[in-house]
Amino acid sequence: MRFDVLTLFPESFNLVMSDSIIGNARENGLIEINTINIRDFSTNKHKKVDDYPYGGGSGMVMTVQPIYDAFMSIVSSVGYKPRTIYMSPQGKVFNQKMAQEIKCYDHVVLLCGHYEGIDERIIEEIVDEEISIGDYVLTGGELPAMVVIDCVSRLVPGVLSSEDSYTEESHYNGLLEYPQYTRPYEFMGRKVPDILLSGHHANIEKWRREQSIERTLRKRPDLMNKG
Ligand SMILES: C[S@@+](CC[C@H](N)C(=O)[O-])C[C@H]1O[C@@H](n2cnc3c(N)ncnc32)[C@H](O)[C@@H]1O
Repeated sequence: MRFDVLTLFPESFNLVMSDSIIGNARENGLIEINTINIRDFSTNKHKKVDDYPYGGGSGMVMTVQPIYDAFMSIVSSVGYKPRTIYMSPQGKVFNQKMAQEIKCYDHVVLLCGHYEGIDERIIEEIVDEEISIGDYVLTGGELPAMVVIDCVSRLVPGVLSSEDSYTEESHYNGLLEYPQYTRPYEFMGRKVPDILLSGHHANIEKWRREQSIERTLRKRPDLMNKG
């Protein structure tokens, strides 16, 4: 799966997305993350990418020209318009189901805003979907784009060692995951539940399911009500 990120701060992606599972997935060719520096496409002699908002108000707004040209460089190199997502606090709040849907696209462009955001007309012209990572405002779309890339990449076959790694996890089936334990058997007087040492797989599965339901009711009752 290919992710192209339109950003003013491409370095931040290599810092965060080169290690561990995502770094290995990139090295093994399972996912491709390309960063495109919007500033490189500015036709302004000072490489300016923002301007004052029409109508007044604080802050600067990212201008259409460099974003559009950066986007079109992708379109002309692949010969089609990839699914294009604008990371925005005004978008639909991201969740596991949306990650599954995005995974169905082989190629996704993620547009990261900065400052006061971007000129509305670029959203109208190139964006298919706006995604927020939560009801709060960050300084830029880079962290949100990394959140989406990380979450979607885990669903790409081969990125995790087994599909169970995510199908049993929190949010996959609307429940939170059961509690996990590893060695040592005892810590500060707290022992691993005996059932997990019983070797009885059906009973372990039943216990885990009950634990999932119990903790979802306790920690996130809103998930239960979603049906
Ligand atoms: C300071 S924000 C702009 C907020 C905008 N003025 C508004 O009130 O809707 C700058 C950029 O950060 C990104 N951003 C901020 N919060 C976000 C969130 N919760 N989810 C996704 N992207 C976000 C967007 O790309 C946005 O263009």
